[in-house]
Amino acid sequence: MEENIKTPLIELKDIYKIYTMGDEEVRANDGINLKIYSGEFVAIVGKSGSGKSTLMNIIGALDVPTDGTYMLGGEDVGEMSDNELAEIRNMMIGFIFQQYNLLPKLTIFENVELPLLYSGMDRLRRRERVMESLGRVGLTEKEKNYPNQLSGGQQQRVSIARALAGNPSLILADEPTGALDSKTGREVLDFLKKLNDEGNTIIIITHDNSIALEAKRVVRIHDGKINFDGDVKDYAAII
Ligand SMILES: Nc1ncnc2c1ncn2[C@@H]1O[C@H](COP(=O)(O)OP(=O)(O)OP(=O)(O)O)[C@@H](O)[C@H]1O
Ligand SMILES: [Mg+2]
Repeated sequence: MEENIKTPLIELKDIYKIYTMGDEEVRANDGINLKIYSGEFVAIVGKSGSGKSTLMNIIGALDVPTDGTYMLGGEDVGEMSDNELAEIRNMMIGFIFQQYNLLPKLTIFENVELPLLYSGMDRLRRRERVMESLGRVGLTEKEKNYPNQLSGGQQQRVSIARALAGNPSLILADEPTGALDSKTGREVLDFLKKLNDEGNTIIIITHDNSIALEAKRVVRIHDGKINFDGDVKDYAAII
């Protein structure tokens, strides 16, 4: 039995995120319990407004829950200082957003380098990391270009390179293919699958079932609550 006990990378215990607007209460996350282990590829699905991005922001330490405990790598995120949280966001988690979030006035190189600037890594080492990361997404020749000189798919690949640069334990992607045509979206998805095959933990948020079916495990949210959590094969059988 003992060897089966391992610490989850992510453990959410009774997580609530409640917004109050006057008399109205929105329970964006309404008692979420979830464990995700290192090496998993999880799709979080649910209708618009079901609470997916709210959950992603909590998992990414970008937002704090109203109530509940979030353990990341066995450590209580709720007890971390602002500095520790910033370090986690920069080094432990790689973010990929629907709208790439690249900074328009920085070159592709500088965009990918950004999370490394906080790490205290020296310039040469940073250069090595950035070029290695750009190499993984096949865009080393664009290092001196600016984001608006790249196609949508290329910009999303830069944002993936940025997410990978810090060698994160976890990659969080919120609708990463949402702004892309289906062929380019497919390429980005295949790339995420490859990263998972190489051992990276991936959480992808999507409202598109054809994308969710590419993950290994699916978690479905409805009105802030998990109403399905299981193997992708079991999910495929119920949709
Ligand atoms: N800052 C906020 N203030 C008030 N209500 C909010 C806030 N952020 C989110 N909500 C509400 O919480 C609920 C969940 O929102 P969330 O963004 O998590 O949904 P989602 O599942 O990501 O939807 P989508 O698929 O459209 O991106 C919604 O009803 C939303 O209106
Ligand atoms: Mg959302």
